Amino acid sequence: MADVSPRADASPSVDDAIADYDRLAGTLAPRYAGSGAAERLVRRHAAILPKPPGPVLDIGAGSGAHAVAFEAKDYRVVAVEPSAGMRAQALTLFPDMDAEWIDDRLPDLAVVRARGERFPFILINAVWMHVPPADRASAVAAVASLLTPGGIVSVALRQGPPPADRPMYEVLPDAIAADFRAAGFEELERSDHGGGGGSDAGFVRLVLRKP
Ligand SMILES: C[S@@+](CC[C@H](N)C(=O)[O-])C[C@H]1O[C@@H](n2cnc3c(N)ncnc32)[C@H](O)[C@@H]1O
Repeated sequence: MADVSPRADASPSVDDAIADYDRLAGTLAPRYAGSGAAERLVRRHAAILPKPPGPVLDIGAGSGAHAVAFEAKDYRVVAVEPSAGMRAQALTLFPDMDAEWIDDRLPDLAVVRARGERFPFILINAVWMHVPPADRASAVAAVASLLTPGGIVSVALRQGPPPADRPMYEVLPDAIAADFRAAGFEELERSDHGGGGGSDAGFVRLVLRKP
C-alpha cells in the first residue's frame, strides 16, 4: 500500500514537494480555486500586464484558477504544473479551460525551455518555497531564459510557518530579490498581502523586470 502519511523532514526535495501536492490535490485544488483570489490577482496586475493575448506563463499553476482568470481577459496561457494530481484536479474544476498544460518543474523548466517560446509575463504564485535554496540561482536563470527582453515576472513568496503536512523552505523577500537582482533583474514593486487561495499564510509579492 502506498505511504500516504505526511513526512517530517525539514529539507524537502523537489520530488518530495510534488509528492505532497499529489497526495493533497483533492483538498488543496478546490480550496485554491474557490476563493476569488485569482481574479483579484489579475486585476491587481492590470497596469503591468502585456496586451492580450500575452502569452502568460503560469509556473506552478496548481488548480488552474489563475489560468482561467487570465483567459477571461483574453490571454493565452501556458500552465506549468509538475503534480499529476493537481493537473487532474485543474481539468476537473475547469473542463472548458483552453490553457496548454505542461508537466515540468523548477529549477530547470527543461520541457518549457525546449519549446523555444518566450513570454512577456510570468506568474510564479506561492511556489518558490518549494525550490531548495541550492537550486535558486538555477531557477532564476531558467525564468530569465523564458522571458522576453523587458519581460516581467511576478513572484509571490509565502510567509509564516509551513503547514504540518507540507514541509517547505523559508523565502525571505530580501534574499529572493537579491537572487533576481544578481541575474540582472530590476525590482519594480514589492507588496504585502494576505492569504488568498483559501490560505491563512501571508505573502510578499515581488514584481521584477528582466533587462
Ligand atoms: C501552493 S500551490 C500554488 C498554486 C497556484 N500557483 C496558486 O497560487 O493557487 C504550489 C504549486 O506549485 C507546484 N510545485 C511544487 N513544486 C514545484 C516545482 N519545483 N516547480 C513548479 N511547480 C511546483 C505544486 O504542485 C502546486 O501546484
